[in-house]
Amino acid sequence: NDRPTGQPSNPEDLKDSAFLRACRREPVPHTPVWFMRQAGRSLPEYRKLREGIGMLDSCMRPDLVTEITLQPVRRHGVDAAIYFSDIVVPLKAIGVELDIKPGVGPVVERPIRTRADLERLRPLEPGDVSYVTEAVRMLTAELGGTPLIGFAGAPFTLASYLVEGGPSRNHEHTKALMYGDPELWADLLDRLAGITAAFLKVQIEAGASAVQLFDSWVGALSPADYVRSVRPASAKVFDAVAPYGVPRIHFGVGTGELLGLMGEAGADVVGADWRVPLDEAARRIGPGKAVQGNLDPAVLFAPREAVETQADRVLDAAKGLEGHIFNLGHGVLPDTDPEALTRLVSYVHERSAR
Ligand code: CP3
Repeated sequence: NDRPTGQPSNPEDLKDSAFLRACRREPVPHTPVWFMRQAGRSLPEYRKLREGIGMLDSCMRPDLVTEITLQPVRRHGVDAAIYFSDIVVPLKAIGVELDIKPGVGPVVERPIRTRADLERLRPLEPGDVSYVTEAVRMLTAELGGTPLIGFAGAPFTLASYLVEGGPSRNHEHTKALMYGDPELWADLLDRLAGITAAFLKVQIEAGASAVQLFDSWVGALSPADYVRSVRPASAKVFDAVAPYGVPRIHFGVGTGELLGLMGEAGADVVGADWRVPLDEAARRIGPGKAVQGNLDPAVLFAPREAVETQADRVLDAAKGLEGHIFNLGHGVLPDTDPEALTRLVSYVHERSAR
């Protein structure tokens, strides 16, 4: 019986996995570890499998999704798998004309900036993403006792791609709409919340054990603007999936000033980047929530001893916290040596088990 991680193969044991226990702030045998972007370009086996296949095309093929999702679980022995997809997949599924350009990211053919443009954002039906249902079912069968994390982009981050038409440093068109036409902005985010919630429900109903809502770029906002213009939509997503009882993780980059507010949006676990020490992040997030993070992904380019020193700092800051899931402060960088990731997983497991 060679389960990818050597974890229990009995699905009954799933809920007792270190990852789900930590999400629920229960005692764990070791600190669970997974990495945002653990599947992808850092792995040669990923690059080989993706040769000649577009990113979005690969997301629509359950056989590829299953294999790519399992690759880092097998290789690194991480405590959770994250479903291989992209935040723009549900938008593509409802007919928004967009593509993911290599080295660039999502590019939207006709940006959404007017009330008439909103009509292009129809609700998502489960049948629009039947390949997701199929892939999640295949994956959970393969994963056994290793939890599968489903995910989606949060309304603000999705809106940024849709309004800008692609990746953006300053989010100027997005903010122009947010400040200039609050009513249209609220309607845009509300539609995106509906699509996002529907997409997460599909993944949970097919067997995902937890979900992560990525609001990657929301750190561009002040707390007051976040509360007024973004949190209602993110809260709508969290409320919609609350009845399933699976842990809900929320993460964004540069969100030091927003951590508490993001927790209040309805998350059970809040992810922090490396700019705030984990104990301080936990203080800002407040009681009753687990914390995920927060090693700087660039640290993995340093020699092994330095990686361990920095991992120690994260683990030391997490001492005494109820519920810590070790992760990076953002996604694995494409040029990361995969061996460094494998070593880090063992190191965190061994050190936290002592
Ligand atoms: O974490 C995982 O292992 C699951 C896979 C995953 C992808 N995208 C695959 C992907 C996840 C969780 C995402 C989410 C995502 N996509 C986010 C939120 C997470 C974050 O990093 O903040 C965002 C902002 C996007 C939008 C996006 N898609 C970007 C910025 C890029 C990278 C552009 C580039 O080429 O540098 C993508 C493309 C993308 N999504 C790739 C992968 C593996 C690379 C494309 C490829 O391999 O050809």
